[in-house]
Amino acid sequence: MLNRRQFAIGSAAVASGGLVGGIAGIRLAQSESVHFTRRLPIPPLVDAAKQAGAVRLKVGSGRHAFVEGKPAPCYGYSGPVLGPAIRLRRGDEVEITVENALDVDTTVHWHGLLVPGDVDGGPHQVIKSGGTWRPRLKVEQPAATAWFHPHLHHDTARQVYMGLTGLIIVDDGSDASLGLPRSYGIDDLPIIIQDRSFASDGSLLYDLDPDPQTIQYGNRGTTIIVNGVVGPVARVPSGLVRLRVLNAANAQNFDLRFSDRREFRVIASDAGFLAAPVSMKQLRIAPAERFEILVDFGNRKPVMLETGPDTLMGIFGTVSPDGSADFVSIMRFEPTAMAATARYFPARLVEPAAANSQAAVQRRQFVLDSGICGGQRPTEMGMLPGMCINGKTHDLARIDVETRLGTLEIWEIVSVGMAHPFHVHGASFRILSLDGAPPPAHLAGWKDVVLVEDKAELLVAFNHSATPQHPFMYHCHILEHEDAGMMGQYVCA
Ligand code: C2O
Ligand code: CU
Ligand code: CU
Repeated sequence: MLNRRQFAIGSAAVASGGLVGGIAGIRLAQSESVHFTRRLPIPPLVDAAKQAGAVRLKVGSGRHAFVEGKPAPCYGYSGPVLGPAIRLRRGDEVEITVENALDVDTTVHWHGLLVPGDVDGGPHQVIKSGGTWRPRLKVEQPAATAWFHPHLHHDTARQVYMGLTGLIIVDDGSDASLGLPRSYGIDDLPIIIQDRSFASDGSLLYDLDPDPQTIQYGNRGTTIIVNGVVGPVARVPSGLVRLRVLNAANAQNFDLRFSDRREFRVIASDAGFLAAPVSMKQLRIAPAERFEILVDFGNRKPVMLETGPDTLMGIFGTVSPDGSADFVSIMRFEPTAMAATARYFPARLVEPAAANSQAAVQRRQFVLDSGICGGQRPTEMGMLPGMCINGKTHDLARIDVETRLGTLEIWEIVSVGMAHPFHVHGASFRILSLDGAPPPAHLAGWKDVVLVEDKAELLVAFNHSATPQHPFMYHCHILEHEDAGMMGQYVCA
């Protein structure tokens, strides 16, 4: 199944001098030596309600074997790598104590939590090395799968790559009323997908002084990891299982399908449930997007989850040029004799309010571009490309947009050169159009990330406040683009 690529784990990267550069070097190269025998790690669940509303997170460094038997230095939240899944209930007020035990500064951004700018964890809320940050979060949003990750000015990409990613589960009771699988780690599984390149000793390869091409492509690994390991196997009950899929890659789009091409149902996107389950056989997920899917393992046959080549590199081509034959297996599911509690796909989920574009009070355009828009940085390797929105690179001291609390706006996002996953903090949106057409059903619910190949029109709901001291960000979620300046700031009052 994995025989189309010659590169073993790490060898592509070693061949290109320790970094992932050049088109050949960024092909997915899931190794034929991947055996899918390691148990899928399940991040520990931290239920805020059971902690009396006080959650502690320690950001630190540790060692973890991404590649079996080869422990390597990395970063994690309250553990060597990744972080716990934090469960929050709608209506909760939670105090989170974040301690930074790294030897560098960091921030913790709650991606997808709808909270005010002063507790959002963006680049203005630096937690110094050795310091502590204690935000209070009021959870007022519907059920969703969100996540948390660093957002430090110019050092987000590396810190995420080193392992800083955790899941947030917002529960509003609809799981139970809809009869959805909700036993965390049993029939409700976090599936955090990332790509990495490894040296032969299993350590992470990340280029600290990237060449222009690495910035343009974003950092792309040769090997896929799920929940922090190469080649995992999940043992699942035979019946309906819910997967909370998060693409936490720096840059790579994944194109997911099962090896037997079975249908699955998408039930939720970034910011909440869809109106009804959407049947699909293949699902593209861009960096920072989340989809919850229901998969029926009732036939008790083992099956692989696969991903295809990233075809959305625009003028830069395709990550894997030979097309669909290049799907690689990324994990295995093995149904057990245990029957699943959920047996039927629900017919309806949660109907979102109509996306009424007539109610918008503003229309704005954001052009995501690279290269010649100023902000280039000279290095030994030559000029690094600037990454811009509307011709400007990010400036922590500049407010780009002012919005009014309680209003809707239409944001038109235009990608130049390649597809960019656009994200807005502190707000969720509905996609009104994508490349001139209405969005497909699985992209018609509330979201906070949209992969824009050409042009998208979004109806953004501004319901959370942000001051000039603590503005919200909007940016491309290719982390190398974000670090290179493809980000802007807005206030909301
Ligand atoms: Cu995942 Cu600015 O965020
Ligand atoms: Cu965010
Ligand atoms: Cu981008």
